[in-house]
Amino acid sequence: MSNKMWGGRFETGPDAIMEEINASIGFDYRFAAQDIAGSKAHVSMLAKAGILTNADAEAISTGLDQVKAEIEAGTFTFSRELEDIHMNVESRLAALIGPAAGRLHTARSRNDQVALDFRLWVRDAIDEIDSQIKGLQKALATRAVEFAAAVMPGFTHLQSAQPVTFGHHLLAYVEMLARDRGRLTDARRRLNECPLGAAALAGTSFPIDRQATAASLGFDRPTANSLDSVADRDFVIETLSAAALCAVHLSRFAEEIVLWTTPQFGFVRLSDKFTTGSSIMPQKRNPDAAELVRGKTGRVIGALNALLMTMKGLPLAYSKDMQEDKEGTFDALHTLSLCVAAMTGMVGDMTPDTARMQAAAGAGYATATDLADWLVRTLKMPFREAHHVTGSLVKLASTKGVGLEDLPLAEMQAVEPRITADVLTVLGVVNSVESRTSYGGTSPQNVRQQAQAWLGRLG
Ligand code: ARG
Repeated sequence: MSNKMWGGRFETGPDAIMEEINASIGFDYRFAAQDIAGSKAHVSMLAKAGILTNADAEAISTGLDQVKAEIEAGTFTFSRELEDIHMNVESRLAALIGPAAGRLHTARSRNDQVALDFRLWVRDAIDEIDSQIKGLQKALATRAVEFAAAVMPGFTHLQSAQPVTFGHHLLAYVEMLARDRGRLTDARRRLNECPLGAAALAGTSFPIDRQATAASLGFDRPTANSLDSVADRDFVIETLSAAALCAVHLSRFAEEIVLWTTPQFGFVRLSDKFTTGSSIMPQKRNPDAAELVRGKTGRVIGALNALLMTMKGLPLAYSKDMQEDKEGTFDALHTLSLCVAAMTGMVGDMTPDTARMQAAAGAGYATATDLADWLVRTLKMPFREAHHVTGSLVKLASTKGVGLEDLPLAEMQAVEPRITADVLTVLGVVNSVESRTSYGGTSPQNVRQQAQAWLGRLG
């Protein structure tokens, strides 16, 4: 039997393999709520515009409510023969209310319908993920207040560079996440135009009111070009791109957690809740959640790449290739949400070993820059010369196998006679971080202030 929704010119139904490759109901069932909301807005507009009788519109609208209730109750039978959510809903509507159901699709196509459903779905997903990321920012800022003065090594090239504070390090991620949220908000703003009424690609001859449907579905305005309306997937690509970058940020943090929790670093201990053991090595505490956040980032980036590849060769307007836009998106946004939740959990109950971090902060001559700055400040030495003198002192200390603060004053003076005992005040790591008071610097008072400001802004 040919398809009852579009089979007028067909003699037979599709081959089994055709049905399998063609059907999207296996994943676009997730659009049920959006699809029904869109149909209700459409049908009420059709009635107001005099295109449908009020009686038909009411029957359709009530029928759609019932379909929705059946789907929510889990009593709805999805059929692969009916390809997608749009035809599954409409077909059930027909079974419930009879021929009036056939009027719902007036002045509409599945092309603008799916574009609408997906925009609505992505819009909700953005709102959800945004509030989740905000929660992670709060968790980070809260810990940053707590550890505003906890000294740890700061690295460049993963070599000891200069001491920083743990709070400062955590606030770096609050900033990244703020940019991620900004990108999502920006994508949402551009997404918020309604494609409904573009119909298949050319618009419609019926006197529809696209402003009305756009407004009733919470859009800022209707899309302006009917071809673009059904051919565009920028809104998903932008969202996935923001999601991929956010996942990259989480992945960098996850990598740091993996490093910090090794016995060799020992900076941080994850709670039992976010750690797993080994089935053979009884001593192990593995940071699996952090590793998985790092690992899952590949999937999010993959979804972005896949959709860019899908779209790059498509002529206007709709092509069935575009049905491939959904699964990767669902997976990527679900994955990101899971990763944000896991990071929030880990941040909330990890325990930094502040003594160990502070001890490590002094290793590797991390206060050498403080010494050079002292030479500039006290002896009015040009920085380049101070850098050179400090380099000689580091070389001397490292030959003797001691820290800079352990070099006898006389030996320092053999390198630079004007050095006095006052230099010792800048060689400690606490003094070092306390001196970094420039705007955005790592001094505990800066960090405390910024963390509090973030908590205030995040509400
Ligand atoms: N299931 C389709 C999709 O996801 C809906 C649009 C179908 N349009 C069409 N002309 N066959 O893209």
